[in-house]
Amino acid sequence: MFVQWTPELELGNSLIDTQHRMLMLLCRKLDIAIKTRQSEQTIQRVMLELKKFTEFHFISEQNLMHEIGYPDVVAHTQIHTTLLIDLQVELSRVRHRAEFPEDLLYTIYNWFNDHVQHEDLKIAEFFRNSPDRPIGEGLYAQFLGTPTTQSAD
Ligand SMILES: [Fe+2]
Ligand SMILES: [Fe+2]
Repeated sequence: MFVQWTPELELGNSLIDTQHRMLMLLCRKLDIAIKTRQSEQTIQRVMLELKKFTEFHFISEQNLMHEIGYPDVVAHTQIHTTLLIDLQVELSRVRHRAEFPEDLLYTIYNWFNDHVQHEDLKIAEFFRNSPDRPIGEGLYAQFLGTPTTQSAD
């Protein structure tokens, strides 16, 4: 599998894009750990790192949805919750050698590409025109040292 960031994943929102890039970075780290035949414990630690960052990202994205008054926050949150349950199941299957780490990486990488381009895209589009602005809008752009991509700052 070739794990990489593609232009279709860029949604034009500094908070979402920054965290998505970090998620992709951790997918690549897991891919490298597998391909360089790291120990089981090392690979499991990297999988945990990826899962924990995914949890963090979901909470962050859910907070953003609440702050901007996104109408489908409940449905979107449910999709996140389902993935986390699936990931937990896969993690324990890998631990019990009922599944390969590649399978977990395949699941999250494919899920991520599909979810970002369909579901997260809707948040980014709503965000642009929402009169409700998120707390500390522009903080991510400041952190990155890039001009803000949001309409109001
Ligand atoms: Fe999402
Ligand atoms: Fe996301």
